[in-house]
Amino acid sequence: MKHPVQVRPEDRSLSPQGQHGNPSPEPKPPLCDFLDLKAQFATIREEVMEAVTRVMESQLFIMGSEVRLLEEEIATQLGAKHAIGCASGTDALILSLLAAGVGPGDEVITTPFSFVATAGSIAWIGAKPIFVDIDPETYNIDSAKIASAITAKIRAIMPVHLFGLPADLDPILHLAKAKNLVVVEDAAQAIGARYHDRYVGTFGDFGCFSFFPSKNLGGAGDGGLITTENAALDERLRLLRMHGSKTKYHHDVLGTNSRLDALQAAVLRIKLRHLAGWTKGRQARAQRYRQLFAEANLLQQVKLPAIPPPQYEHVYNQFSIRCRERDALREFLRLAGIPTEIYYPRTIHLQPAFEHLGYGAGQFPHAEAASQEVLALPVYPELQEAHQAAIVAAIAEFYGTRQP
Ligand SMILES: Cc1ncc(COP(=O)(O)O)c(C=O)c1O
Repeated sequence: MKHPVQVRPEDRSLSPQGQHGNPSPEPKPPLCDFLDLKAQFATIREEVMEAVTRVMESQLFIMGSEVRLLEEEIATQLGAKHAIGCASGTDALILSLLAAGVGPGDEVITTPFSFVATAGSIAWIGAKPIFVDIDPETYNIDSAKIASAITAKIRAIMPVHLFGLPADLDPILHLAKAKNLVVVEDAAQAIGARYHDRYVGTFGDFGCFSFFPSKNLGGAGDGGLITTENAALDERLRLLRMHGSKTKYHHDVLGTNSRLDALQAAVLRIKLRHLAGWTKGRQARAQRYRQLFAEANLLQQVKLPAIPPPQYEHVYNQFSIRCRERDALREFLRLAGIPTEIYYPRTIHLQPAFEHLGYGAGQFPHAEAASQEVLALPVYPELQEAHQAAIVAAIAEFYGTRQP
């Protein structure tokens, strides 16, 4: 293996001049952004500004027609009966658990390899997250291990469609039905992904989405949405997000303030029209990476995201490669001006905030190994072909599989 720039992990703590006076190499100018939302905005500027102006001129910022129309449009696009906007993806999970009546004393099965909000939402409402290790091929919860984690205290299963790849839903739904458990799909990273012939978020009792700006459908700030097929749950969710109120100053149940802003809804309505095209753009770039990695003879050194079987449609919110030398490769790429991210460098069960649950290192070996080895590369519709080629060429240079 050839490393043209030697970067040892300990070098990273050095000052720019190095502890012993050795100058650290200067990073090259950035090749591209990890995610270029400015480039996306340039393609929709007029439509978005028109929508923002419409809301500003109306001065109607709370609920109203923009939120209602977004809910209707997303429900139609996903083939869901009901869609309920809320303040964030985190709140979508919290409100779903509350609507299902999950609370203190209850336990919920989920994955330790996700953004913290997944298990965080369970702990936040006073229930206990019960972790099940991931399938190392897909990074999603290993559905074959769920049955043995079910006890009398388990009330729900929360699978995550991580990086945009649907979780193995059939066995999860089958188990949930047999054991009378609620299914809360964390689809925050997977809007538009299909499993069999349906969109994720429409399989469980609840589908939870995030409009965090870096998501495939990202707002101009925070936002979230829940889908459900059940009219009673729809009504309950609408109450919970508005202080338990249907009529002004009359509060049927204890709720909270978790509304989606009208401004966000207006922007998201514009962006929703582009989502299918953007998803195709992400998928095309993922496919291009696969070709480039193969052409550079890198498939031994670098594991690419598993090619999903035909019943799974991956929407590539992230394109995470995997390799043993992850940290050294990341530093090499940083010096080459190539941005990368790590989703996620520490599993949830090993986060200090979850220490009280009593989990320890070694309990979920596949998730823990993934957290040490995954590296997300830029993948977005505006990413240029030349950038992808340069990214893979730099990785080939790191491994010495191709001369620069
Ligand atoms: C898997 C997952 N779940 C939940 C969330 C929470 O969403 P939000 O940031 O909108 O609260 C996110 C995103 O940030 C996520 O990636």
